[in-house]
Amino acid sequence: MSEAKNTIYGNTDDCIERVLVSAEQIDEITTRIAAEIDATYKDSENRLLLLCILKGSVVFMGDLMKKIKTPVEIDFMKVSSYHSGTVSSGKVNIMLDIHRKDLSELDIVIVEDIIDSGRTLSYLVNYLKLNGAASVRCCTLLDKPERRDSELKDFKADFVGCVIPDEFVIGYGLDYDEQFRALPYVGILKPSVYEK
Ligand code: PRP
Repeated sequence: MSEAKNTIYGNTDDCIERVLVSAEQIDEITTRIAAEIDATYKDSENRLLLLCILKGSVVFMGDLMKKIKTPVEIDFMKVSSYHSGTVSSGKVNIMLDIHRKDLSELDIVIVEDIIDSGRTLSYLVNYLKLNGAASVRCCTLLDKPERRDSELKDFKADFVGCVIPDEFVIGYGLDYDEQFRALPYVGILKPSVYEK
């Protein structure tokens, strides 16, 4: 674990059960995925757009884009899938849309921090295809297949950092109640923090 920061829940080290994906492992993952993306689009005549889904993906996106050799454009969307805390709302709302008139010359890679139920990504893939994107693929740092909605159980991202167990994870963009996003690693939150 790195230096502890204080949050509204107290000292970070006291809130973390253990590190699940270390900063070194994340660095290896971003290097591998960047190479996979370069290989996938090496013969494409379209422009490559990395679409960051706010807010959790912003740290992963920033590190990943620096390692991709193919020229990339970036854009952002914000959608909501959770009410708050650990309870899923079951609905996807677009809160910030991609403001581009024409997607027809774009290979879009949606960049996510985590796939849980799969609702956010499956919705976005359909949305972007309906809006005319040349192609749409999904990239996620973390995948929690145990949490997938039953009707989305076959939904898979094209680029996956690592598969994780069904634990409450925070750090490297992921939050609990807007805290912990700036940690350089992914950690498991102690239940005592969110059960308070
Ligand atoms: C998280 C995460 C994904 C989504 C995944 O976002 O960043 O976008 O939930 O869940 P799903 O697979 O069940 O749809 P969240 O709504 O927590 O917003 P945030 O990134 O702003 O924290």
